[in-house]
Amino acid sequence: MNKIVYDSYEQMSRAAAEIIIEQQTQKPDSVLGLATGSTPMGMYRALVDAHHAGRVDFFRAVTFNLDEYYRIPKNNTHSYHYYMEHNLFRHVNIRRKNTHIPDGDTDDVDAECARYDGLIQVHGGIDLQVLGIGANGHIGFNEPGQQLFTKTHLVKLTDKTIQDNAKFFDRIEDVPRYAITMGMGTIMQVKKIILLISGRNKAAIFKKIMRDEITTDIPASLLQIHGDVTVLLDKEAA
Ligand code: PGA
Repeated sequence: MNKIVYDSYEQMSRAAAEIIIEQQTQKPDSVLGLATGSTPMGMYRALVDAHHAGRVDFFRAVTFNLDEYYRIPKNNTHSYHYYMEHNLFRHVNIRRKNTHIPDGDTDDVDAECARYDGLIQVHGGIDLQVLGIGANGHIGFNEPGQQLFTKTHLVKLTDKTIQDNAKFFDRIEDVPRYAITMGMGTIMQVKKIILLISGRNKAAIFKKIMRDEITTDIPASLLQIHGDVTVLLDKEAA
């Protein structure tokens, strides 16, 4: 994995945005894999600025998000549908029909997961995937454990993830206990990955994923066997 350390979160965010801008310039109909959480917010701000400055066009882009809470309706302010709408989609010229996020309010989880994997396949897979990382090493919501799953699936969130994500909610009891996430197989099949890591609380996990060892206890450690991963991190995480 290549790694690039930036002096600040803002610089890291702008560099990540530039990689997406370059991808869209080279291939205007790119299939982009998108992430949520606090880490990519600066990257989305930089992309919106670049779009307003006429530097990036999303009209032909197709997007797939990594995950969504279960069960949560799309218009809930904590949903990742809401996050994407407010952090990116409504500020750029992407067509809503080209944006995809698992339906966290489905009555038929298995069918929804199969639909999502099928859609990714129909689009020929993901060209460029943006990833964050949980302090426990999860990517998407692929949580540490004895097994990892290849396809989109329902996952019970770990206590650590629930604690970490409580920052977005009034009370920890309000954090959903389940999510639908893209599986490790789909993530490992994307053509190119940028992994964003920011903050002192991610320094320990960054060290662990750079070790010469892969383990299901640290799902992000699998990225070591992907051929095209660039880790962008700020000084605090490094
Ligand atoms: P964060 O989440 O960016 O809010 O730290 C990252 C993740 O859980 O993947």
